[in-house]
Amino acid sequence: MQVLVIGNGGREHALLLALKKSKKVEKLYCMKGNAGTAQIAENVDVNYMNIGAVKKFAAEHPEIDYYVVAPDDPLAIGLVDELEAMGKRCFGPRKNAAIIEASKAFSKALMKKYNIPTAEAEIFDDYDKALEYVRRKGAPIVLKADGLALGKGVLVCEDLKRAEEGLKEIMLDKSFGAAGNVIVIEECLKGLKYTPGEEVSVLAFTDGKTIVPMITSCDHKRANDRDKGLNTGGMGTFSPCPFWTKELEKEVLETIMIPTMNAMNAEGRTFKGCLYFGLMRTDKGMKVVEYNSRFGDPETQVVLPMLKTDLMEIFEAITDERLSDINVEWEDGACVCVVLASGGYPLSYAKGKEITIGEVENVQIIHAGTAVKDGKLITNGGRVLGVVAKGKTVDDARRKAYKAVDNISWENMFYRKDIGIKYREG
Ligand code: AMP
Ligand code: GLY
Repeated sequence: MQVLVIGNGGREHALLLALKKSKKVEKLYCMKGNAGTAQIAENVDVNYMNIGAVKKFAAEHPEIDYYVVAPDDPLAIGLVDELEAMGKRCFGPRKNAAIIEASKAFSKALMKKYNIPTAEAEIFDDYDKALEYVRRKGAPIVLKADGLALGKGVLVCEDLKRAEEGLKEIMLDKSFGAAGNVIVIEECLKGLKYTPGEEVSVLAFTDGKTIVPMITSCDHKRANDRDKGLNTGGMGTFSPCPFWTKELEKEVLETIMIPTMNAMNAEGRTFKGCLYFGLMRTDKGMKVVEYNSRFGDPETQVVLPMLKTDLMEIFEAITDERLSDINVEWEDGACVCVVLASGGYPLSYAKGKEITIGEVENVQIIHAGTAVKDGKLITNGGRVLGVVAKGKTVDDARRKAYKAVDNISWENMFYRKDIGIKYREG
């Protein structure tokens, strides 16, 4: 098979590395890709948000058998529907199912209607009514812009002053653009042991009939050690989640995952692809913090290296709605990804810095914002590389990853030193 992965980041590099191991895959492409994807796939210089351009490319390349649409934005505009209408086989939900991520108002209403455990919330499109509600509820309180906002449209407000400011930023100043026309205002969830609550990412394969959770992982969203600093797209991940148990998995399958799959079917919005459950352990059980309609980044970088089953076989089984035939198997042990970022990220940062990679062993270097210029590897984004190591335990994997990090550098590179040590006490 010839397979094309859409997207530019670390997640797409990790997907390509997993697909490269497949017995079924002969050739890989990446649209648009980065310097890392270019090592294992042919990069295609087409803007994937331009549906007409993607369709033109697909029409000119009948030899490509299968398209994997990885990022949220092309899913939200219906790229899968368009490719399927041309007779192409795809991995990823159609537009009417991708709304589970693209609209937080939709997903909140879905959870309410089908009794799927989540934070209590109200939805507003009127600023004055929203302000009145925020004042009545008081802080702490969580504000979420309805639409896609690069993972930055959520404000966890500790006090009322911040909540009032945040509401103005989202609804009046439109700091997240049209994503803030509608707002979801919800209670701030408390963890069982920690504040803020313990979070776990569970990605799941689903064909709309069967849902198969992957191994768990934990993200590190803040820029700096001990979860200080601004929210980012993710500074590192580790797998498995330390507080995860068979009992929790059973609870989550029965109260969250299967009900979500069934709810989407009942709404006529069957979800096929990777459904991402952002969950929080609370004193009242596991609750949904967010859904994503795709593989997580950088969760994928620590989950897929542990997959024993052929990923392409799983993808095709989902397309053909026979996922129940597949036995999805995982390696034992742990995996850690340390993200190396450009100084200044997630605010402004320089690009074009030359990257030096010395002797590194026992790791996989995943590329995110990289490019090649004049034969040299250079930075080309905020999150630049992910250093992924496997080990018997998370500590073992951490040691290997950080040892390699010591031999990688560029001007103003920064990274977190504490990836993999949270939730140690379970
Ligand atoms: P989201 O983009 O919806 O995942 O939200 C970003 C982050 O905000 C989450 O990873 C949580 O750390 C936090 N968060 C979101 N919703 C809540 C909530 N209801 N209570 C506490 N923290 C939350
Ligand atoms: N790591 C969070 C996300 O992919 O949305």
